[in-house]
Amino acid sequence: MQFIDIKKQYQIHKKAIDQAIHEVLDKGSFILGQQNKTLESTLAEYVGIKHCIGVSSGTDSLLIALMALGIGSGDEVITVPFTWISPAEVIALIGATPVFVDIEPGTYNIDINQIEAAITPRTKAIMPISLFGQMPDYAAINAIANKHGLPVIEDAAQSFGATQHGKRSCGLTTISSTSFFPAKPFGCYGDGGAIFTDDDRLAERMRSIRVHGGEKRHHHPYLGVNGRLDTLQAAVLLAKFPHFPAEVKARGEIGARYSKLLKDCCVVPTIQEGNTHVYAQYTIRIPKRDEVQQELQAQGIPTGVYYPKCLHEQPVFTYLGYKYGSFPVSEKASTEVISLPMHPWLSQEDQDHVVQAVKQALMAKI
Ligand SMILES: Cc1ncc(COP(=O)(O)O)c(C=O)c1O
Repeated sequence: MQFIDIKKQYQIHKKAIDQAIHEVLDKGSFILGQQNKTLESTLAEYVGIKHCIGVSSGTDSLLIALMALGIGSGDEVITVPFTWISPAEVIALIGATPVFVDIEPGTYNIDINQIEAAITPRTKAIMPISLFGQMPDYAAINAIANKHGLPVIEDAAQSFGATQHGKRSCGLTTISSTSFFPAKPFGCYGDGGAIFTDDDRLAERMRSIRVHGGEKRHHHPYLGVNGRLDTLQAAVLLAKFPHFPAEVKARGEIGARYSKLLKDCCVVPTIQEGNTHVYAQYTIRIPKRDEVQQELQAQGIPTGVYYPKCLHEQPVFTYLGYKYGSFPVSEKASTEVISLPMHPWLSQEDQDHVVQAVKQALMAKI
């Protein structure tokens, strides 16, 4: 059994994907080719936003967003300690300070009630994560941000395809960023990402920053990076895109079935009112997590722990001065969460096997 079955997707769509790759090879247009333009307009339309800019990874898209907003030394950006390292990493890389706010226990997303207390005169942006595949309440977050004149950057690396009151992830904030890392809901065959915005000025600046801050050849008004999405990756994504809505639907159904079957024995994901969930990870909470994980591994069931250590506990962020106990909800989650096999082709038979094994392991260990 696979944790995420990337090969299966390739087998199903092999002909279209191979053809798309060969078209790029035959044409030899590897950098910002026609496929990049087509992908950007396709995804902007899907999300329901004006601009999509393909970039080299989800991490680089967050970096470019911060650079475009002019954030740097002495500034603060609010984010969470329970997530992948990229958001805090890029905030620190540009010389700003990540300011952590704890999460809600049910959705694992930022605790909105704690945001305002973290805002200071140095705060320059709020960067919430739409963790595991669903969004935090962006109407509430945008209201706080508007009150304080702050931009909101959604890290939608895990939530592309999810909706909130009918609006798609990447379409609700000043800037949004997603990742096309192969294991993500919409993944390519290497590294890739995209930035979304409705703001023409920010879009233009982000397009420049993506190419060394250049506006036209040999004219560089901004400091930039080499952050383009490869044409080959754009071609792969375009070939996969027609199937993406069906995959999102399957993810939602498989996640809902897991929750129905597991709700009596462990804590299943809470779905916030108005949200759909794409289950980039299907994550439950259990006692004796590590022992249960070993038991599942012995039975050939792959699992993952996202995230066993909070960002304020990472050595690289010791200098921020947080202590164990600073973010109790995040810290508790990091000891209890475990993610189960999840992908659009997970059979009911395999899913029943996982559920049975989780139940047995829990009974044996508790
Ligand atoms: C929440 C989150 N943010 C950012 C990223 C970074 O994306 P990438 O790996 O494409 O740089 C990831 C990828 O794992 C992620 O899960």
